[in-house]
Amino acid sequence: MSIIYDSQTKCFNLSNDRISYVIRMAADLYPLHLYWGKRVRRISDKMVSRRMQDGYPQSDEKFSLHETPLDHLPQECPTYGVGDLREGMLHVIHQDGTHALDLRYASHEIIEGKPELPGLPSARGDKAQTLILTLADALSGIRVKLYYTIYEDLDVIARSALIENGGDAPAVIDRAYSACVDFEYSDYTLMTMSGAWARERQLYTRKIAPGEQGVSSARGASSVQTSPFMALLASNTNEDAGDVYGFALCYSGGFKATVEVDQNWSARAMIGIQPFNFNWTLEPGASFQTPEAYLCYSPDGLNGMSQNFHKLVHRRITTGKYAGSKRPILINNWEATYFNFNEEKLVALAARAKKAGIDLFVLDDGWFGHRDADNSSLGDWFDDKRKLPNGIAGLSEKIHALGMKFGLWVEPEMISPDSELYRAHPDWCIHAGEYIRVESRHQLTLDMSRQDVQDYVVEAITAAMKRGNVDYVKWDMNRFITMWGSEQLPAQRQQELGHRYILGLYSVMRRIIEKYPDVLFESCAGGGGRYDLGMMCLMPQAWTTDDTDAHMRCRIQYSTSMVFPQSCMGAHVSAVPNHQTGRSTPLATRAAVAMGGTYGYELNLLELPDEEIEEIAKLTDKVRGMQELLLYGTFFRLKSPYEGNQTAWMCVSEDKKEAIVTHVFTLGQPNPKDVRLTLRGLDPELDYQDVETGAIYGGDELMLHGIIVKKPWGDYCSEQFHLKAL
Ligand code: DGJ
Repeated sequence: MSIIYDSQTKCFNLSNDRISYVIRMAADLYPLHLYWGKRVRRISDKMVSRRMQDGYPQSDEKFSLHETPLDHLPQECPTYGVGDLREGMLHVIHQDGTHALDLRYASHEIIEGKPELPGLPSARGDKAQTLILTLADALSGIRVKLYYTIYEDLDVIARSALIENGGDAPAVIDRAYSACVDFEYSDYTLMTMSGAWARERQLYTRKIAPGEQGVSSARGASSVQTSPFMALLASNTNEDAGDVYGFALCYSGGFKATVEVDQNWSARAMIGIQPFNFNWTLEPGASFQTPEAYLCYSPDGLNGMSQNFHKLVHRRITTGKYAGSKRPILINNWEATYFNFNEEKLVALAARAKKAGIDLFVLDDGWFGHRDADNSSLGDWFDDKRKLPNGIAGLSEKIHALGMKFGLWVEPEMISPDSELYRAHPDWCIHAGEYIRVESRHQLTLDMSRQDVQDYVVEAITAAMKRGNVDYVKWDMNRFITMWGSEQLPAQRQQELGHRYILGLYSVMRRIIEKYPDVLFESCAGGGGRYDLGMMCLMPQAWTTDDTDAHMRCRIQYSTSMVFPQSCMGAHVSAVPNHQTGRSTPLATRAAVAMGGTYGYELNLLELPDEEIEEIAKLTDKVRGMQELLLYGTFFRLKSPYEGNQTAWMCVSEDKKEAIVTHVFTLGQPNPKDVRLTLRGLDPELDYQDVETGAIYGGDELMLHGIIVKKPWGDYCSEQFHLKAL
């Protein structure tokens, strides 16, 4: 891995053994984007496009934006208006209201590792080098430091920008994306993920065309509606072949991922904080750090891109005791009881769960204040003694006495109008002056930009965690933000609230996590509404969706795996008929699908006969036996639920000696033709034994000729193959 500056060609070449990213300076002034793809040693002058060559000035003095309009050049940090009329990566409004920003090369530095991003989560910087390219606007004194990190062992470039005001007048940042890549051509298909509550992250693809296209969220969170991810796919790309350029943002607030195809059929891809409902006043001497974006190139199709992202998550994103290790198999009482529980019922449920081999009992919503429905008590984090006469302390003691761990649900960022907290601090919620306080799920959002609110949340939540002696926390967030306004921000800073909220949230989470380093934290946002790499830096797993129906889960988990590995995806076996869809699927299928993530249960075991508990115990045991493979094995998508009647995926151990393959049919079919599943990632020279049947197959045979799955009998039937090398 290295970053080399060649003064002859004026190129920065960021390369590891597999990929390169090349930037070329135009007359030592503007950094242009030259190349991103498989490793190249260098790119000579002759290979630079004619437009770029024509656009090259001979010297600084002769350089004229009129002769060389930046509008036609691929740039690393374009700004709107200085010759370029496309949307820029940065847009700054000066004190006098003008908004030109002529950012020119000032200096560069190549450092080992990578800088920490103040206040923001980011990937760790071991086995990495960072290019810091500083550009400056001479008139205003605005400076931008562009960070580019390349890793020895990851095919990912991490990018962000630090914007500094070195002038003597305040300026307003109107937009600041984290990364921009100007592709020379636009012959790509754009892949994004969009959805809604209980049907998060559905995959969408479309050919890009002149104009702007992409996804964004202005909801104050990355959201269930969209994901801070996009990928550009070269033509004929599939799961296993083709050039893929993935973009993902390490940020949990509003974002935008956009591609603009211009008059020359070039494509400008940018990702960063949602510019709508954002600006930031930069006083002289102050700086602003954008979130980190990951640029992930793979020549090996979508599976290649996902495997790169998964490695990034496992090796540099997730932290703490549970990152990289086994996770407790849990039962959550939400779908078993909703708000209707008492200590006796919960202990009985836990005891039954213990019989089924389950490690961790999680008490979900409804244990505090007087919360019998979703219309009260958020903010009042003290025990409801009507339901729990011995409090969470007493309950936790009983659960621990069963030999199980105890976990607790909290929703720290929220406040119910019917709460003691609200009666004491009506100003603590986000609200726009005297306008109506628009409720969602009967609740308002705490203003996490305020220090007093942050301190209250840390104190209340850590007190509950201490009382409950908890081993696990589910951190929920069940509404998006409306009626933006903070009582503590001056008028010109009101549009900073979205980002200040997220910075406040990260700080609160860090303070709590640092206090309880042995606790497993799972994030959640009304299902999977804050499913982003920023959250994963803090909490190693996230509740994927409130839709626990195995059939729908096939789709949701399939697309979630585009960026996130199995170890991040909370996945539970729930009751039939399913509470979200009314659909009944076999227990084996529900379990097989839940094995695609961090496995758990969410159903009333007290209603199940002993035989089913025994079956569940066997499944729990099976998962425990191969959890490492299930969570951390190299993941391959084999059959897409978006394309037909089947879904299939597999995980292969790093040494390729073990694999687990899962195949799910959607509907049963009469007189079906055999389905042959060609596997991936095995060692062609090894022989593998099917653990269940004892049959032996060659690795080459499994990958070339394939394995035949059982005929579909009934709807939603599934089959798993556990293969071990001989
Ligand atoms: C939304 C979560 O996604 C559910 O799992 C559950 O915790 C409810 N909130 C509780 O209100």
